[in-house]
Amino acid sequence: MGFHLAIKGGKRARSRGWPLWPIFDEREVRAVEEVIRSGYWGGGVGVSGPKEAEFEEKFSRSHGCKYGICVANGTIALHVALLAAGIGPSDEVIVPALTFWATGSAVLMAGATPVIVDVNPETYCMDAGAVEEAITDRTKAVIPVYNYGSAPDMNRLVKLCREHNLVMIEDCARGHGFVWEDKPAGSIGDMGCFSFQQGKFMTAGEGGIIITNNRVYAERCYAIKDCGRLREGGIPEEGIMPSEIINWYNYRMTQIQAAILLVQLERLREQVEIRQRNQVYLDKRLREIEGIEPIKVDERLTKHQPWPYCFKYNSTFFRNAPRDKFIAALRAEGIPCSKPHPPLHKALYFPRWSEAYRRYVEGGASFPVSEKAYNEEAVELPQYLFLGTNEDMDDIVEAIMKIKRHLDELT
Ligand SMILES: Cc1ncc(COP(=O)(O)O)c(C=O)c1O
Repeated sequence: MGFHLAIKGGKRARSRGWPLWPIFDEREVRAVEEVIRSGYWGGGVGVSGPKEAEFEEKFSRSHGCKYGICVANGTIALHVALLAAGIGPSDEVIVPALTFWATGSAVLMAGATPVIVDVNPETYCMDAGAVEEAITDRTKAVIPVYNYGSAPDMNRLVKLCREHNLVMIEDCARGHGFVWEDKPAGSIGDMGCFSFQQGKFMTAGEGGIIITNNRVYAERCYAIKDCGRLREGGIPEEGIMPSEIINWYNYRMTQIQAAILLVQLERLREQVEIRQRNQVYLDKRLREIEGIEPIKVDERLTKHQPWPYCFKYNSTFFRNAPRDKFIAALRAEGIPCSKPHPPLHKALYFPRWSEAYRRYVEGGASFPVSEKAYNEEAVELPQYLFLGTNEDMDDIVEAIMKIKRHLDELT
């Protein structure tokens, strides 16, 4: 008798394709054409360029902030925000272990020490209790990350930041359109940093923005990313820049990127709704399968979408088939999926002279929840799968159940 599982040559559970990403239409094409014909292609010098200014206004307003500063990508958004907050050598910045590495590398770029904390086992987002324990008199900032269409306990983190006089920089690279209670992600802390890299919820291929309600931070961010120039011309007066800032950068975004993003923003609200609906539906269906547990979404996070979607795989309910074998089998069934990035302490490059090197390379720190997620438990599904329908989610569930029915072929 032949095999059932596609990894063994059986028929795939899902043979149709998935929504293609990025989504675009003639509007993006026309927007780019308009910029090309205008001759104003580059980043604005000493002033936000026309498309940039329009995008800064619309994006920041739609995310609850007065000011927006476009930059070349999300990593740079974090770097600029840290510099604007006056963070530099001898400072500590608390970051979660489970995130894309840019959250930690931006801290190293600022010359500061990333203090890594473990994630909460239910949400896989920064654990507020671990943050509290990690605060020292050198702590200057906390960077919570919206991961897996979920969020850390933002109320508790805001309270901790207030009590200890810490700057909160929200890493919203995966959090476009999120709302916590009544506040949009990016407007809860002091600054919010977004990415528009190819796979993100809105994209211009690359790009980033910092949003804030703090005018001084906004001015500083603009000057740092535009070679030391203030947005409305001139150079910063004495006292505007934090004394720790020893340099500026050319981190500008082009008008072509901004023009594309203006169109992408028009689709955001509708796409959040579709992905959120599918996330909630898939959560419910996956809970029916013993050994599969979707990541918890705090009910105070009222708007969200998964980047990526994540569930926990418990191999004891799958005849001890290791997670990586399960992933290979699920992919063969036609469901794109993968394991997470390694946790920060395993992935970042720590300069030998740094405090971080002593802590994480010589000191052998460990973050059990994040390590378990990376090594044996977490399975991630890309965001574009969630632009489909309930039936698409059912196909994911059916593929997992099919693997479960035929574990003898896997083990
Ligand atoms: C959580 C997180 N932070 C920061 C970044 C950095 O953004 P970018 O790739 O635009 O530099 C990313 C994206 O890759 C991310 O996922």
